[in-house]
Amino acid sequence: MRLDTLAGPPALRASSVRLDVHLTAEDLARALRADARTGLGTRPRELPPKWLYDERGCRLFEEITRLPEYYPTRREREILLAHAPEIAQRTRAATLVELGSGTSEKTRLLLSALRELGTLERFVPFDVSETTLRTAAAAIAQEYPGVHVHAVVGDFERHLAHLPRGSARLVAFLGGTVGNLKPEARARFLRRLALQLGPRDALLLGTDLVKDIPRLEAAYNDRQGVTAEFNRNVLRVLNRELGATFDLERFEHVARYDARQGWIEMLLRSTVAQRVQLPGLPLQVDFSAGELLRTEVSAKFQVEQVEGELAMAGFTRAGFWTDRWGDFGLTLAVPTA
Ligand code: AVJ
Repeated sequence: MRLDTLAGPPALRASSVRLDVHLTAEDLARALRADARTGLGTRPRELPPKWLYDERGCRLFEEITRLPEYYPTRREREILLAHAPEIAQRTRAATLVELGSGTSEKTRLLLSALRELGTLERFVPFDVSETTLRTAAAAIAQEYPGVHVHAVVGDFERHLAHLPRGSARLVAFLGGTVGNLKPEARARFLRRLALQLGPRDALLLGTDLVKDIPRLEAAYNDRQGVTAEFNRNVLRVLNRELGATFDLERFEHVARYDARQGWIEMLLRSTVAQRVQLPGLPLQVDFSAGELLRTEVSAKFQVEQVEGELAMAGFTRAGFWTDRWGDFGLTLAVPTA
């Protein structure tokens, strides 16, 4: 655990930044090896989406959020622009926690609304990427003088028990990232989260909603090929971290909607029969021509489905907002009494 305080004479010290690390570089390296071994060593081949987000991956994702085809970020921002004051009012939160916070761009709308209301004391960004967190934490501390920033480096599937204690906490899980968990993992995650929250805490959950398939698929098959680069980036991560020999030219980006599962899946298709070495494991993987490697699922929800899954996990819906096209949903939920 480290304590970083912004420089400056004590009297002028506007905010403090604290950073807890529950996930070291070694933990991450170990987890990547385990995921690569199970995910590439068996068929069908699959890697968890979190490995898409190294520094370059985070930059590419930022770029995705600005693409004309990628509507979720814009829609969620529109909802927050219209309703952040109401969400603040309903929760009167003293602590805003953000899971998978990244650069915390949309979160500023919530922070500002809570500051306006006068209840905000602390911001807790929670992310796997220490670099991203440090940058975001410092920026927020500067923009919100007097707000304590307590950043937590962790994996939201493993370290929820390390969320800083307190009452009147609002946990924001935005962007539709909950959809990157498959149903079983999602249920487990939501259940664990509900158990962490007290009667005065709340969850604000962003979910992408089911819509016509061409629009869904276009959001993951942009014309500029940024999503394809983002997808292939996971191979660069394996090459760098495990000394793997993936030839990025021989894997093509595939994104398609699976209506039965209700999710977009992102895959890499091996264009030829090829053998890839992962000396860091060690492992060698034979891909047949056309073989697929799944790198992400991104679930699209029906409004009632969100409420149902939350109820199963121990939450009661306290509010729901969407944009004027019904593209994206924001649900406010509290632990069921
Ligand atoms: C991480 C949920 C915001 O699933 O839409 C974007 C990641 N993947 N394009 C999503 C992603 C491909 C994104 N979220």
